[in-house]
Amino acid sequence: MSALYLRVTDLGVRYGETVALQEASLEINQGERLALIGESGSGKSTMAMAVAGLLPRGASVIGTLDFPVLGHSLRLGRDVGVLFQDPDGSLDPVMSVGDQIAEVAMMHQGIGWIAARVHAAELLGHVQIARPLTRLNSYPHEFSGGQKQRIALAIALAGNPSLLIADEPSSALDTVVQRHVVNLLDELVRERGMTLMFITHDIALASERADKIGVLYQGRLVEFGPAAEVLGSPRHAYTRALINTHISLDTPHSKRLPEIDKAGLV
Ligand SMILES: Nc1ncnc2c1ncn2[C@@H]1O[C@H](COP(=O)(O)OP(=O)(O)O)[C@@H](O)[C@H]1O
Ligand SMILES: [Mg+2]
Repeated sequence: MSALYLRVTDLGVRYGETVALQEASLEINQGERLALIGESGSGKSTMAMAVAGLLPRGASVIGTLDFPVLGHSLRLGRDVGVLFQDPDGSLDPVMSVGDQIAEVAMMHQGIGWIAARVHAAELLGHVQIARPLTRLNSYPHEFSGGQKQRIALAIALAGNPSLLIADEPSSALDTVVQRHVVNLLDELVRERGMTLMFITHDIALASERADKIGVLYQGRLVEFGPAAEVLGSPRHAYTRALINTHISLDTPHSKRLPEIDKAGLV
């Protein structure tokens, strides 16, 4: 039984008159992977950004977030890395990717420039960028969309955070690239014993990669629990509809998504 990493209690978020999230409570243990699913506007990003401490100014928040393992509040970059839908938003177009990764490593790991550059090359290798030492000096525009998302992942990992939050990290990319990014994310998180919160529209992906699933519907967390329970005996009509509109989750993995197995490096 691993330690409790995050406890969210009765979290509510409003943007002026708009109630984006109400009475949301959940728990994630260290090393667990939580998928948040739900239709557009249901409050998924609000939930994720509230946890990361990245809500816009003007958002009003009630409820509590506890990080018992940390024993203090979450520090962005150091304790939590965040991956967004559009990698261009996280990358500086006029700075080499090596410098961008090294900068985060220096800031949050207290290491010097040389060590940070070495670490940056290692991270580029971990996110499966070929010839990482050479590519340290490349700029974001020299990479494909899938590669840029993986570089954004390297930056998110550079502070050696214990939590990774990925907000639809791949929906701007095509399906095969998306799955590659999410599969890689999941592998890296597991290797490092990190806790993962990821948002996806892809319920099949959630069923494959998440330990727990939370379903948001109109700002309410209508389901939360172990993935098999939520998908096996959904309590809410919206979840049943979500499952029914996707491929049958009983279909064997090999028949379900042949493109995943064929997908090589992109
Ligand atoms: N910065 C904001 N200002 C005002 N309303 C917002 C803002 N961000 C989100 N909302 C509203 O909050 C609700 C939840 O949005 P969001 O969390 O982005 O949903 P999701 O990520 O599930 O698509 C929506 O009604 C959305 O329009
Ligand atoms: Mg969103």
